[in-house]
Amino acid sequence: MVAPSAVAEISSEQLERLIPQIYQKLGLHFDEKKIYFLKTRVAKRMAALRIENARDYVFMITYADPAGLEMQALANLITTNETYMFREYDQLQAFANHCLPELLSARLARGEKMLRVWSAGCSSGEEAYTLAMIVQEVFPESGSWDCKIIASDIDENMLRKVAAARYGQRSVKDVPAEYKHKYLAEDGDEYIVRRRTAALVQPLHLNLHDRIALRAMKGFDVIFCRNVLIYFDDISRKAVVDSFYNALRPGGYIFLGHSESVGRVTTAFTLKRFDNHLVYVKE
Ligand SMILES: C[S@@+](CC[C@H](N)C(=O)[O-])C[C@H]1O[C@@H](n2cnc3c(N)ncnc32)[C@H](O)[C@@H]1O
Repeated sequence: MVAPSAVAEISSEQLERLIPQIYQKLGLHFDEKKIYFLKTRVAKRMAALRIENARDYVFMITYADPAGLEMQALANLITTNETYMFREYDQLQAFANHCLPELLSARLARGEKMLRVWSAGCSSGEEAYTLAMIVQEVFPESGSWDCKIIASDIDENMLRKVAAARYGQRSVKDVPAEYKHKYLAEDGDEYIVRRRTAALVQPLHLNLHDRIALRAMKGFDVIFCRNVLIYFDDISRKAVVDSFYNALRPGGYIFLGHSESVGRVTTAFTLKRFDNHLVYVKE
């Protein structure tokens, strides 16, 4: 095993080579405050690969990783995956009480019994399953519609958790009691999303910094991309939000996290107020 002292051996010179590559491939921005975190994660990869010298690791990822497999393995370690069900409740209320009924009537007016929701940067899937529960609660007829909630993330370990649909206490702590009972089945200390709800969610491996992959994402009624773009800088944030604009149908909504603003990177969306909450719509 390579000693954990490898953390100290990743020089500034090697980091200066690695950080732009991470930015270019993943859109993730590592500033001074996050350097120690990055060093520990690179050291972990080096230990797994039994590489002792950071220069060899950086050389390998630069010149000997044509399929991006090592960059993907590193991505699995350097993303922040904090999430839980019913996070940012007031935003979900705006979605449930206003956006969703409006989107469903618009679809119905066109004779389309279809709904497409995208949880972009879904981590282990709690957000996507929250949206699935809300769709079923607000719209019990969803069973006879073609409803899909795409749950995408770059982190393969997280996507395995989405597919398992099994969660610990921490993930479900904010689930309202009536929802917990209806949509989750208790299994010892854990909760499993009930089959009818789980069936609405489709995991997808997708790098939000991959413009070509994003072009294939089309026809969405609503996109949730919460607490993801905080790890991007303004340039890559703008590229992602522009792609979201193209992925949405006219009348579609985008929800970002509380600390994130669409207005900072584009004027393409229109701001709408529902109760106390502001949402962005593509008109
Ligand atoms: C903090 S979690 C947010 C989870 C959920 N949206 C929420 O608000 O609770 C951020 C997620 O963004 C994902 N992510 C970061 N960079 C990404 C990229 N370039 N492409 C796709 N997903 C990315 C991470 O893997 C992580 O799971």
